[in-house]
Amino acid sequence: MAKNDFLRDVWYYALPGGSLKRGAMVAKTLLGEPIVFARSREGKVFALRNICPHRAVPLSYGRFDGQEIECCYHGWRFDQTGRCKEIPALIEGDSLDLKRFQVKQYPVREVQGNIWIYMASNERKALPATDMEVPVVPFFGDKSYQLVVTLHFPCYLDHAIIGLMDPAHISFVHRSWWWKSGRSLFEEVKAFDPSPYGFTMRRHKIPNVALGYRLIGGGAPETEISFRLPGVRIEHVSTEHHNVCNLTAVTPLSETETEVTTLVYWTTRWITAIKPLIKPFVRAFLDQDRQVVIKQQEGLKYDPTLLLIRDADTQARWYYQLKAEFTRAAAEGRPFNNPVKTQILRWRS
Ligand code: FES
Ligand SMILES: [Fe+2]
Repeated sequence: MAKNDFLRDVWYYALPGGSLKRGAMVAKTLLGEPIVFARSREGKVFALRNICPHRAVPLSYGRFDGQEIECCYHGWRFDQTGRCKEIPALIEGDSLDLKRFQVKQYPVREVQGNIWIYMASNERKALPATDMEVPVVPFFGDKSYQLVVTLHFPCYLDHAIIGLMDPAHISFVHRSWWWKSGRSLFEEVKAFDPSPYGFTMRRHKIPNVALGYRLIGGGAPETEISFRLPGVRIEHVSTEHHNVCNLTAVTPLSETETEVTTLVYWTTRWITAIKPLIKPFVRAFLDQDRQVVIKQQEGLKYDPTLLLIRDADTQARWYYQLKAEFTRAAAEGRPFNNPVKTQILRWRS
């Protein structure tokens, strides 16, 4: 079922910047690759392959002085670019060329409080082969998120991503007093346009405003929702006086494990005051998606054919088309050609 066809030469969400303190390291496996993230004394984030080139001990078990990482096994030292700087066992005046022991360095960017990593298709192609930028939420400049929730989904990437753009599940999976009552299914008509490496649901007034949205205050909320490869959804809700953005990023850890991180940015000052109360709701919402994916795993074991039906599943179909086109464009060495065309979709949810 699962297949290692993760897109390459794209930026993936790695981790919230707040979880990596100065002088600290965090080990993480992304796309099946062991990576150590570290933040220098000066605050700069870097990422290296988390395997010592000497005898394979993960570098994250070593010591980091905020400048260099020292392997815990024989004390080899590596700088922030992965260059070997010292091999303690060598005698004075040894002419061994330390440059031979280079640990792979990954390009990283820290933007709006988030750390992104560029996963290249080949070792030598270090930096962005496409014009793809790190995703940013609109309106918030270089401000950081106010709230972050991360959950592990025990599934292949696609099943977690489809949940981000599947309008038909909302009334069933997210049935709760504070979001959707379940009794109310409304006909929706939404316009979509192609946008960089994805598509955007055109800005519109939110009908049947859920309690969660009403918290924002400042008049009738409008929303615009975009999706882009490899798995990032950005929702921008605005009222006359306030702005709320939600960035949800899906990153494959392996073929059977996926990490979903949802970050919320807001301007409504009093929401900050009740942040500890909101977080459990955000977590509960995301966990509803996770629980249904866990149930889905039971059926997927039998490798059934999956269906994409009518307009309600068109966004999911676009996702597969976007991915296929991205892969083809890379293989043929030509620019990406967005397969999504402007379209109106209708469904009930
Ligand atoms: S295994 Fe890292 S220094 Fe020997
Ligand atoms: Fe959902």
